[in-house]
Amino acid sequence: MSYLLALDQGTTSSRAIVFTPAGQPLAQAQQEFTQYFPQPGWVEHDPLEIWQSQLQTAREALARAGLEAAQVAALGIINQRETVVLWERSSGKPVHPAIVWQDRRTAALCEQLKAEGLEPTFRQKTGLVLDPYFSGTKLAWLLNQVSGLRGRAERGELCFGTVDSWLIYNLTGGQLHATDVSNASRTLLFNLRDRAWDDELLSILDIPRAVLPEVKPSATVYGTTAPELLGAALPIAGVAGDQQAALFGQACFAPGMTKNTYGTGCFMLMNTGPQPVESKQGLLTTLAWQLGNHPPEYALEGSVFIAGAVVQWLRDGLGLIQQSAEVETLAAQVQDTGGVYLVPAFVGLGAPYWDPYARGTLVGLTRGTTSAHIARAALEAIAYQSRDLLGAMEADSGLRLSELRVDGGASLNGLLMQFQADLLGRPVVRPQVAETTALGAAYLAGVGVGITDPPGIAERWAAGGRFEPRMLEPEREQLYRGWKRAVERSRAWAE
Ligand code: G3P
Repeated sequence: MSYLLALDQGTTSSRAIVFTPAGQPLAQAQQEFTQYFPQPGWVEHDPLEIWQSQLQTAREALARAGLEAAQVAALGIINQRETVVLWERSSGKPVHPAIVWQDRRTAALCEQLKAEGLEPTFRQKTGLVLDPYFSGTKLAWLLNQVSGLRGRAERGELCFGTVDSWLIYNLTGGQLHATDVSNASRTLLFNLRDRAWDDELLSILDIPRAVLPEVKPSATVYGTTAPELLGAALPIAGVAGDQQAALFGQACFAPGMTKNTYGTGCFMLMNTGPQPVESKQGLLTTLAWQLGNHPPEYALEGSVFIAGAVVQWLRDGLGLIQQSAEVETLAAQVQDTGGVYLVPAFVGLGAPYWDPYARGTLVGLTRGTTSAHIARAALEAIAYQSRDLLGAMEADSGLRLSELRVDGGASLNGLLMQFQADLLGRPVVRPQVAETTALGAAYLAGVGVGITDPPGIAERWAAGGRFEPRMLEPEREQLYRGWKRAVERSRAWAE
């Protein structure tokens, strides 16, 4: 009766995993869905495809686990963050494709708000920067650009939500329009300290309150699923953004504990405890989670837009490899990059640079450069970007990290993890259960129904792989100086 079902709605696929009460994955299902690129820099999803794929994977995972829904104690939802869905309150029909976090269509609006001197206001209240990454300007774009939507939004006929809200609405048969504090903190509309939608920010972006979801803790009972969907009315008891959920799944409960998730991008989060820490180094301040009525916890976050995606580029863009996993073998053919650096600023640079006009740069090529050097430079770029984040995090928090917990697809790459440890001069530790984000969803749901708690989760966390730094300080620093020079060359290129 105390199995937990995690729904992990990511940028490229929907997944569902059933976990045992001890936090071990029992069965899973996954479905990729369509990515739409209607114009350069635009990225959209079909909200109905997101919902259908998520529902089907939930059903499949339960069937594969051989469980009836009634044997599941609770369900948790974690999601790609910042992506915007707008739908009709009465029918549940989306009124526009979802605008995905990677979409850059609001760059001009962000520039305009900056020119009006508004960035400090947003930064101080939300912990974020004015970048098209976040939801607020995307929602403003919809209301300003799509005919008829503003009036309908003002009349309360439309619901705005990040993907968590969209799934909660559908799972409850249209009964609930809600989100959690961690997802709300990625919208540019939410006041970090008051934990409420902020009137001043709503007025700057001209967003009517009537479209906004109710904000709830990350671990609490939201409601139950409509019984016909999964065969029983399951409590929805955990909701969080996927990166915050990974921090939770990695049991980073004490201030200073940090995880890095290597997915499409790289997201490094450091728990900073019950107080938000303002960044002076270009990081984001974000809500980590709130468990029931306990005070919330905050995190510093470094978001890098291109990490694992650089390997896809080697595969699909350059054709250097057939399968992503081959990158490790190719890169291992050489001892080092021979002085080559690749800065994968394909969609600009996120933290700590926030330069939407930076572009991908390959420097240090010689007549002796081979595809192996380039593959190695691509992998190393993931580690260099993570070192940028860690440096910023330590400077902001005044804490020195004793080790870095890692997860996500590319954390399985031993060569990359060894280089990461070398470059940081700290051990890099991979957990036994690699499905950290989904595990975070399951644990939050478990906390929401009172069958688990952070001390129990911390006790169950176990290391699966550990990489000790082997590189000497002078070499590490020399390599890193080269990276910083390469980054300088990538900056402001598209201007
Ligand atoms: O902020 C975007 C992040 O939540 C996306 O995560 O795992 O779907 O690429 P993922």
